[in-house]
Amino acid sequence: MERLQKVIAHAGFASRRKAEQLIIDGQVKVNGKVVKELGLKVSATDRVEVNGIPVEKEEPIYFLFYKPRGVISSVMDDKGRKVVTDFLPELKQRVYPVGRLDYDTSGLILLTNDGEFANLLMHPKNEIQKVYVAKIKGIPSREKIRGLERGVQLEDGKTAPAKAKVISIDKKKQTAIVELAIHEGRNRQVRRMFEAIGHPVMKLKRESYGFLTLKGLNVGDMRELTPHEVKQLRALATTKPNN
Ligand code: URA
Repeated sequence: MERLQKVIAHAGFASRRKAEQLIIDGQVKVNGKVVKELGLKVSATDRVEVNGIPVEKEEPIYFLFYKPRGVISSVMDDKGRKVVTDFLPELKQRVYPVGRLDYDTSGLILLTNDGEFANLLMHPKNEIQKVYVAKIKGIPSREKIRGLERGVQLEDGKTAPAKAKVISIDKKKQTAIVELAIHEGRNRQVRRMFEAIGHPVMKLKRESYGFLTLKGLNVGDMRELTPHEVKQLRALATTKPNN
């Protein structure tokens, strides 16, 4: 069930504000009857018309994007920087990112117009495993890596158990590449976790989201999810743990 003004706006008829005005002005019918009530919720089976023109419900659409660094996880930026939707093909639907990656983080991010699906994936209760690869300053001791896994104290609380693995070290440059798998999705969490153990992140990439990876994609590439992948993601979010 969706609010009438949202259905009209999503179908591309008008902005949310204008859609509200259309309703107030008596230009909207639901199942043949004029509706002037703003809060009304309609379902997929309700027939919505604006001035006699049927409002088509948007087809849900799902994309996997390999976000480059230097791109905002948003549909708009007031400073004119590149945003994730700049990389989409021309679409009728308005899609938006599921969660966010920092401006300086590259990697896997999903985009959709399916709000219910996005909320399901982002709900803290259903947090899906995300694997990050970080280039960090210094070479972490085994104890520090253990600390990451057990959980570190951040200003918004201790992090949940995670998995961490040192992939390589560069003794000369005093840097290391570390893989970190987490289930939470707090703001700048990975950067803050490494900061907390004294090894600031120099470069960060999200390699996977649940079972989805960047395999076969180059940076800046976008592909549609298959219906099977969408189904599997829904199942993953509703069955825990060990995703
Ligand atoms: N953690 C971060 O610190 N940054 C991201 O972009 C994602 C997770």
